[in-house]
Parts: sequence; structure tokens; C-alpha cells
Amino acid sequence: MNGPRRLVVLGVCSSVALYKACEVLRGFQKAGCDVQVVMTPNAAKLVSPRLFSALSGRRAAVDLFDEEEASRIGHIRLAREAELLVVAPATANIIAKFAAGLADDFLSTLHLTVTCPLLIAPAMNEAMYLHPQTQENIRRLKSRGADFVEPESGSLACGDEGWGRLASVEAIVQAGLRRIGAERRLAGKTVLVTAGPTREKLDPARFLSNPSSGRMGYALAAEALRRGARTILISGPAGLLPPPGAEIVRIESAQEMRSEVLARFGEVDAVLMAAAVSDFRFSETRREKARKEELPETVRLVRNPDILSELGRLKTRQVLVGFAAETGNVEDGARRKLREKNCDLVAANDVSQSGIGFESEDNELVLVEPEGDATRTGRASKVELSRLVIDRLEVLIGRRG
Ligand code: C5P
Repeated sequence: MNGPRRLVVLGVCSSVALYKACEVLRGFQKAGCDVQVVMTPNAAKLVSPRLFSALSGRRAAVDLFDEEEASRIGHIRLAREAELLVVAPATANIIAKFAAGLADDFLSTLHLTVTCPLLIAPAMNEAMYLHPQTQENIRRLKSRGADFVEPESGSLACGDEGWGRLASVEAIVQAGLRRIGAERRLAGKTVLVTAGPTREKLDPARFLSNPSSGRMGYALAAEALRRGARTILISGPAGLLPPPGAEIVRIESAQEMRSEVLARFGEVDAVLMAAAVSDFRFSETRREKARKEELPETVRLVRNPDILSELGRLKTRQVLVGFAAETGNVEDGARRKLREKNCDLVAANDVSQSGIGFESEDNELVLVEPEGDATRTGRASKVELSRLVIDRLEVLIGRRG
């Protein structure tokens, strides 16, 4: 690994498998990472934190309220510097705390402070692992973007045979390194993402819009940032917090979006048009709010410029990704859009299905490129889907050199 040493925070919980955490620590060190260990108070009752301090060369953290420890380590500074938070072994308890957002010890507090990827390697008795509450907590964390190294089946500390044995040290370290390796693959590249709906005003109190939440675009921007891209997020009114580090440009109408996108098109390597741009605007708009009686019975609409088609005509080296909300044959619709708008990738979803697409946390995409078969992602959270889209984007940008 090149460049400065990367900081991995290793969370250690009170499972008998915690002896393997020493090997996990060593694995990351061998790969050139610095490791800071954070133990839960119960783990520190099983094994002295001094063991991990000696192995890592950094004082292991346990107590958030120990003044000396807090001043030396400080969870805020640690959260800023960490490139990966890996919890191995992770108990059912820490998984539940993470899923619920509790923060009553160093590790759970750190979890709420970090913006780096999270990797969890569970280790517990089979019944606890398969309990519907644990499974629901795991699903919740996955939908927020956490990775899991699934436990293996075998003999457990309690004497039972079954699922719940900590995955191999090798599998945990490899999964962690893959996640960090993915981090910087877009370093030096500039990615522009549009997100959310547009608002086309009739007057200051009335507008034409659509139900886009902006979630897909914000997730894409967060993922591009995580992989090291300079990321510009041009957003319609979305009511979401922009990911830290994104250059945010707020717009309302399609015409404003068009001029902000065009102004930056020359400097970007890729555009992801995840915004739901209104196809029409009012032919006339008023600066003052009109009284009801002043408004005509019918209003005239005019077509908005199609920003993506315009970029398709202008593009030189830029990779263009379009999004399509389809009903009927989703793949056919996506292929047509790919051709007509001269895109390199179109991500289409079926808006006739309930529970996915507009306004929801989940989506299901069909990804099409000019060559090759379509990829169907299956239903997943928009955070998970953003990774798949950015994986493809990396390949497409890579081909341009
Ligand atoms: O043609 P359709 O609106 O279904 O295409 C959707 C794609 O085109 C999306 O990526 C959307 O952001 C983009 N679009 C655009 N300008 C418009 C309408 C849609 O860039 N006026």
C-alpha cells in the first residue's frame, strides 16, 4: 500500500473469540495500517487492554469518561482520522446498540461519530445470531451501508455446533482491506451528481414538482466522496443533509440546474443525473403571489430543456450516467434512453412497483450499458445500490484513462 499509513479502528467485544482479534490486528498491521483498538468494558474484563496496547503501539481505549484516556485518544479526532471501523468479534449486544444508535461507551459513541466504512464480524451463539431481532438489526445496519463478514458454522464456545463462529481472520482482514482499497480509486477525479426534484414556479406560492426524495443522488455523492472523488452535488429541494465534503450547489428550477451543470461540465470526469427534472414549466411566472381570481382557468406549460440530452451532445471524455423511472418493460425503456441521450450507463427502476423508487429507502435497478447484458440488482437500500453504480462508474472512468 502506498502513501501515508492508514488508520484502522478495531472494535473488540466480549466474545470468547476475542483472542482472534490479536490476529486481526496483526493482519492489518502487515498490510501497512496503523491499528487503534477500542474495547467494550466487558471485553476489558476478559482480557487486559494492555495486551492490545502492546500489540498496536497505541493505548487501547475502553472508557470514554476516563479523562486521561479521552484527552490522549479523543473519539472525535479518532473518528476523523479512521479510514475503517472494524468490529471483530462483534456481539449481538453491540450490533443492537449500533442499529439503535445508542452511545453509552467508547465504541458505540465512536460508531455514531465516524463517517468511514463499517465492517462487522459477528461472533455469538447460533440462537442469538439467528434471533429475528439480531437479523433485523443486521439488515438495518446493512441498509445503512455497513459490511458484514458472515460468521461460519462449527463448534461454538458454548459447546453447541452451529452458526455463529467468528469468520476467519484472513476473511476479516481481506474484507477490510478491500473496503479501504476501494476508497481511493476515484482520487483525482471530479464527479458531479444531481439530486432531488426541481420546482417550477407559477408564483412565489405555487409550483410544479414531483415526489423525488433526493436519497439516491445523495447516496451516490457520499459513495463518490468515500472513494476519493472531488464531488459536486447539485440539488433541488431535498431536505437531506449533504454528505460532508461535497461541494453543494442548491437550485430550484430545471433552468437553474441546467446552467449550474453546464458551468461545470468542462471540469468533470463524470455526471450522474439522479435528479428528477421537471419536464415542463409554466410559460409565464409571476414575481408577486397572484390572487385566486387573477389566475386563468388554464395555464400553459412549456417544455424544459433536457439537460442530460444536451450533455450527451456536448460530452468529450465525460462519463454520463442517466437515471430512468420506467413502467412496463424497464430494460427496453433504459436502452432507449441510453441511445437517445448518448449515455454510458442508465440505471432504471420500475416506478409502478410499490415500496421502491420515489420517496422510499429502497430501490431495485436495471443497469444497462451500450454493450453487454443488463444487470438486475435486486431490491436493496439506495446506499447499497449507490455502491454498485459507483463500481460501474469506476470501470467506465478507468477506460477513459
Ligand atoms: O427522459 P426522462 O426524463 O425519463 O430521463 C430521465 C433522465 O434524464 C434522468 O437522468 C434525468 O435526470 C434526466 N433529465 C434531464 N433533463 C430533463 C429531464 C430529465 O437531464 N429535463
